[in-house]
Amino acid sequence: MSAAAPAAAPVCLDDYEALARERLDANAWAYFAGGAADEITQRANREAWAATWLQPRVLRALAQGHTRVELLGRTLAHPVLVAPMAFQRLAHDSGELGSSFAAALQGAGVVLSAQASMPLEEVARRVLPEATRGPLWFQLYLQGDRGFDLELVRRAEAAGFEALVLTVDAPMHGARDRERRAGFALPPGVAAVNLAGAPPLPRGGELCGGLLAAAPGWDDVAWLRANARVPLVLKGVLHPDDAKRAHACGADALIVSNHGGRTLDTALPTAWALPRIADALGGALPLLVDGGIRRGTDVLKALALGARAVLVGRPIVYALAVAGPQGVAHALRLLRDELEIAMALTGIATLDAVPRELLFDASKTHLGAPWERPR
Ligand SMILES: Cc1cc2nc3c(=O)[nH]c(=O)nc-3n(C[C@H](O)[C@H](O)[C@H](O)COP(=O)(O)O)c2cc1C
Repeated sequence: MSAAAPAAAPVCLDDYEALARERLDANAWAYFAGGAADEITQRANREAWAATWLQPRVLRALAQGHTRVELLGRTLAHPVLVAPMAFQRLAHDSGELGSSFAAALQGAGVVLSAQASMPLEEVARRVLPEATRGPLWFQLYLQGDRGFDLELVRRAEAAGFEALVLTVDAPMHGARDRERRAGFALPPGVAAVNLAGAPPLPRGGELCGGLLAAAPGWDDVAWLRANARVPLVLKGVLHPDDAKRAHACGADALIVSNHGGRTLDTALPTAWALPRIADALGGALPLLVDGGIRRGTDVLKALALGARAVLVGRPIVYALAVAGPQGVAHALRLLRDELEIAMALTGIATLDAVPRELLFDASKTHLGAPWERPR
């Protein structure tokens, strides 16, 4: 979105993207930067945040302000988590170990992907002792074999992961044209090491060559909730009715997400889905959101629309590619600094109840609303 030339020293998250593009090979770039099909949702995520206008207040008392938020029984230093992203060793040798450690040092949460390229136990050992760390969660897909799924859940719990994040928006891979054009393949030495020994996916039915036989349903969510010993977070919810169903199934939190535009193209941007879900749930569950969050102002807008915290995806792997763990730490620091500046300039002292009125309703202007929806 930003037209700025790559900066020598990155000053914002987009600078890391520009630098990563120069550094990564075509294979890794297609994997990290790509989305599904025409990438309309991927772009719309960003444009929807950009097209949400702030209505700042002035002369407010800010001296006692801070960025802390409460989430699932923990106090977070600030409301940013690293989104689960597979195969981070494609970006840097340290992979998820590097990004997670850097996040812990910056007080950010970490959601480790089921398809991480580093052992989950090693990541937990590196993150848990850090006093500054945020929450440590483990993301999983159900693999169609409850024995294997439960073993993985127990491994993650035993390692010290504090919540499970079940991703529900990807029963199969999206149509990723960019990856296919690049002939994307995992290079030697990069693999989903925590899924070694996973049974082959069961097959049956007609759709998608029978691959949907293993696609999870609501009964699987209830099963996982009944068997997990830690809170269960559902990731990939966009419809208010699904959010209510997730609540009824015992989910402890939801992540409003369209997978960064990597699964269903033209799925609505998360900035639009979030307030509808927040209104439908009326505070019954804590909400998180991801997709196109690149600026401190985006974080603040997400909180005004009903999120308790946000996840950041691609910028983290870009920063990892450009400067390893130090890059990730720097990127997260930049985002946090921007959030603090945005709070100061909008008159928001604390994040526990950012009012929706912080956002300007462009549809009410006499001028019309040229920017009210993604182009
Ligand atoms: C390279 C890459 C790998 C991803 N892998 C996973 C994954 O393994 N599990 C998952 O739930 N989401 C995965 N996601 C989606 C992210 O968790 C997140 O929803 C998305 O990246 C947020 O959008 P953003 O990249 O615009 O910040 C992946 C995203 C990217 C970019």
